[in-house]
Amino acid sequence: MEIPFAESYKIKMVETIRRSIREEREQWIKEAKYNLFNLKSDQVFIDLLTDSGTGAMSDKQWSAMMVGDESYAGARSYYILKKAIKDIFGFEYFLPTHQGRAAENVLFSVLVKSGDVVPGNSHFDTTKGHIEFRKAKAIDCTIDEAYDTTNQHQFKGNIDCEKLENVLKNNPKEKVSFIVLTLTNNTAGGQPVSMQNIKEVSALAKQYDVPLLFDSARFAENAYFIKTREAGYENKSIKEIVLEMYEYADYATMSSKKDAIVNMGGFIGFKDQETYRQASTYNIMFEGYITYGGMSGRDMNALAQGLDEGTEFDYLETRIKQVAYLGHKLIDFGIPVQQPIGGHAVFVDAKKMLPNIPKEEYIAQTLGVELYIEAGIRGVEVGTLLADRDPETRENRYPELEMLRLAIPRRTYTNNHMDVIAAALKNVLDRRDKLTSGYKIVWEAPIMRHFTVEFEKI
Ligand code: F0G
Repeated sequence: MEIPFAESYKIKMVETIRRSIREEREQWIKEAKYNLFNLKSDQVFIDLLTDSGTGAMSDKQWSAMMVGDESYAGARSYYILKKAIKDIFGFEYFLPTHQGRAAENVLFSVLVKSGDVVPGNSHFDTTKGHIEFRKAKAIDCTIDEAYDTTNQHQFKGNIDCEKLENVLKNNPKEKVSFIVLTLTNNTAGGQPVSMQNIKEVSALAKQYDVPLLFDSARFAENAYFIKTREAGYENKSIKEIVLEMYEYADYATMSSKKDAIVNMGGFIGFKDQETYRQASTYNIMFEGYITYGGMSGRDMNALAQGLDEGTEFDYLETRIKQVAYLGHKLIDFGIPVQQPIGGHAVFVDAKKMLPNIPKEEYIAQTLGVELYIEAGIRGVEVGTLLADRDPETRENRYPELEMLRLAIPRRTYTNNHMDVIAAALKNVLDRRDKLTSGYKIVWEAPIMRHFTVEFEKI
């Protein structure tokens, strides 16, 4: 008999979560103005809002916290983290920040000017926010295959080099702040970028003399997919692959809350000293002195340890197989999801799942509310709400994909939880004929509206 797969860790500490009843949830979500961000976490049974900062740290990370050095300048913990970043990514220079968007804020303060363009693969919402806030334009060059959820392309996170070259041809190099490669491509479904695509994008960046930035939140999951899907990498370790990937990056912004398995933290990696020096001033203004930048010494220790654990194959295999377990269960139930299953989340194709809801009534948001009411599971909309309005016309930008993202926190839930999620979605699928109307917005913020938007049921 073949020995089945099992987690590469055992559990040392647990946290109680509470089930609720449907009537409670109907009341709570109404009070939350049908915005899942407004729910109290105690009103949620299985929280798939994000995989960011929600993972479980290891015993080694917790023990590293006990020996953090809290000196203002030159802390030992800073040097431990500096060494980890050098060893894992090869960056000579780095600045700690309190999370990923802070890294964007600091670095973009140096690199992005009004009127610039920033081509990339499905810029994350804070990335786009920091670009548009500076009156520059984010141009999405993701390959078209990403928008067909049934297309089995193995690297749906890739940049379409033709689209990219068009942007580079039509703009003087001074107007291109940088190219951004999001690893993995979150918005397209946690889809990876191949090493070959990294190389091609890097070649274009060199040809047109513009820098290349890696938005690195899920860099290790990306390396796992390169190892398991791309010819020539099967015998390389994750750490070897990561080092090779980052040979091509000029800069990295990192949200450490994902693949480095800490609850808070981020950093910027630099190859050149000059940009590092310029960014240091902004880091001191916005984040903190250059050797702590918004992080405690103990948190830098946990992060250094997390970078090491997060780039171990056994851990990544456990992680990505759990996400795939949920994804394939949903496929077996006839639920339309982005395929192949991505690294950190399963993305449900809401347009296909709820065909009777008009796009003006926020299809994926409606699905999110229904899943919450069904079983206390909280996902997040990745669709019209997140895409937000065109900065000029202020009209909704209806994206090609309208998804409900079910992000799986690292080392947190068991496959029994995955079974609950799958059954709950199946129940929503079974009553989809009755779901014919969605929601209308009664209040929204000028940018990044999805966090605080308020709805009324139609
Ligand atoms: N880049 C990517 C690709 C991200 O997914 C995120 C955060 C950030 C940058 C910003 O990092 O949250 O540390 O400031 N993504 C989270 C998510 C919030 O739920 O996907 P941050």
